[in-house]
Amino acid sequence: MTVMEIRPTNTPSRELLLLADESEASVADYVGRSRCYAAFEEEHIIGQYLLLHTRPFTAEIVNIAVRPDRQRQGIGTQLLHHAIRTARGDGFRLLEIGTGDSGTGQIALYERCGFIRCGIDIDYFRKHYPAAIFENGIECRHMVRLRMELFPQASSR
Ligand code: ACO
Repeated sequence: MTVMEIRPTNTPSRELLLLADESEASVADYVGRSRCYAAFEEEHIIGQYLLLHTRPFTAEIVNIAVRPDRQRQGIGTQLLHHAIRTARGDGFRLLEIGTGDSGTGQIALYERCGFIRCGIDIDYFRKHYPAAIFENGIECRHMVRLRMELFPQASSR
């Protein structure tokens, strides 16, 4: 598996974008402003993430997904570590990520990778998404916000 940036000549996988974020409007808001990195197996994209420069010194992983038949095999973890190295290498000091409060598996994964819960964006999904979302039988109502302080390190991507 190789992770590399998708340049404008290629486009991120739409199927994967919508797997992580089912709102077309939300994806449309950030996709053109983000940098996309994809995990390739031969010429096929098996996972990808989008990194958005949100405010001074800060980047956010706004979308991350792995192809359903390749989930739970460590690819998401590798992409998150790649994002951390990339953001640090680009000079960002803070890396953020957010997900629905019903996504307990995703939250556990982000915490295992070193992100720390720092807040809740109350009613984010009720306010901004056209229809209610349910996951694990729980309404995905609030966005759990997580962050990681990035300290400069002598590491290569
Ligand atoms: N249910 C339960 N646990 C999960 C889930 C889930 N749906 N997703 C991730 N996990 C956690 C578990 O702890 C799991 O460990 P386990 O298999 O030992 O139980 C671990 O993450 C798996 O780690 P990886 O194999 O490294 O992760 P994976 O390759 O599956 O990628 C990802 C994780 C990106 C969340 C993937 O499952 C996916 O594409 N899911 C659908 C889209 C999605 O939810 N994207 C994130 C939305 S938030 C955002 O985009 C900013």
